[in-house]
Amino acid sequence: MDVSRVRQDFPLLSSEPGVNPLVYFDSACQSLRPVQVLEAMNEYYGAFPSCAGRSVHKLATEVSIRCDDARSKVARFFGAENANEIAFLKNATEGLNTVILGYDFEPGDEVVTTDYEHNSLQVPVFKVCELKGVKHISVQSSDDATFDVDAFHERMSKRVKLVAMCLTSNVHGYTLPAREVVDIAHSYGARVLFDAAQAAPSMPLDMSMLEVDYLAASAHKMLGPSGVGIFYVNEGAAADIEPIMYGGHGVTEVRGGKFTLLPPPERFETGLQNYSGILGTGAAVDYLNSVGMDDVRDHEVGLNRRMTRGLMQTPEVAIMKPFDPNMRGGIFSFNIDGMTPHDIAMILDNSKNIMIRSGMHCCHSYFDEIAVDGCARASVYIYNTDDEVDSFVEAVRDLSASFGKVR
Ligand code: ALA
Repeated sequence: MDVSRVRQDFPLLSSEPGVNPLVYFDSACQSLRPVQVLEAMNEYYGAFPSCAGRSVHKLATEVSIRCDDARSKVARFFGAENANEIAFLKNATEGLNTVILGYDFEPGDEVVTTDYEHNSLQVPVFKVCELKGVKHISVQSSDDATFDVDAFHERMSKRVKLVAMCLTSNVHGYTLPAREVVDIAHSYGARVLFDAAQAAPSMPLDMSMLEVDYLAASAHKMLGPSGVGIFYVNEGAAADIEPIMYGGHGVTEVRGGKFTLLPPPERFETGLQNYSGILGTGAAVDYLNSVGMDDVRDHEVGLNRRMTRGLMQTPEVAIMKPFDPNMRGGIFSFNIDGMTPHDIAMILDNSKNIMIRSGMHCCHSYFDEIAVDGCARASVYIYNTDDEVDSFVEAVRDLSASFGKVR
């Protein structure tokens, strides 16, 4: 991958470097956006700022055609067989809620998750337990922080109706063995929902190979705008979930106090859509396709290996498991003994212009489970370089020497 060429497309990175050039290592929170995405979004507001699927004038027709085109691009990007299996929502959280709260559970049904879920999956599971008497089973990770397939298999039974899991952790970057999970769950008749918010930006995903029932991702982590969720619903699994929002656009006949839902994706897209965001999402997947998702993955892991090599011998630094950087994509989570994660992040920002994230990363239960009070997280993407990794490594070593303690 030609990283210097890629950097030219990102306004924040393309200027001449100064003394402390900006190092953006927070892409797991939000990626930066290339000019191609910004232009696609602005074009909507400048040239055809109308509604898709409603008015019949030229501007509205243009939006409808462009949004259909964006849906087809996203469907191809995810290997969906039919573009109607892709709905555009507000974020990944909305997709996760739609499946978990919209599934027709009976009291006593079970939902199985990992023990490192994001609150966006975990909290709707807690809520559905409260509302419908569903039982939540969490599969404990192995000691090396990988997914324990045997423990998962032991927890499965015909009572399990939904396996809802984070495909790639936003805390430690580990990706579970997706196809194996799908096969085991399906052998018990359970549906499978993947939270792919962290996986979709970093690796090729192919729904026709994976055979997952539902998958949710967010455009803002994959070069697209914030405020757009990508929701994949396999055609054969759509009838098992009801929308969680009702209103205009999602319905056809509304008469005599009754209504008829449109088929997917419209039934999940109630109300006026984020058209500019949808077009920006189409441009984002075009951009990722032009780089190639295998190259994206290799680039992230290469930087992560360099970072890990640079800091694994620093005695004050505790890298979060799994230790093998090949298992962590672009995510490097760590602590410095004697410092809080927020102090690490603030000092790196203020003294070196290096931006990382710190805290619990919306995964409070996992940190409780492993008895760790949050972490600092550096996350890299296609525009980051070896030189930036070296500056980060040097800055973390300096911090450790000045403020860290050896346990
Ligand atoms: N879930 C996002 C993160 O990991 C916001 O930073």
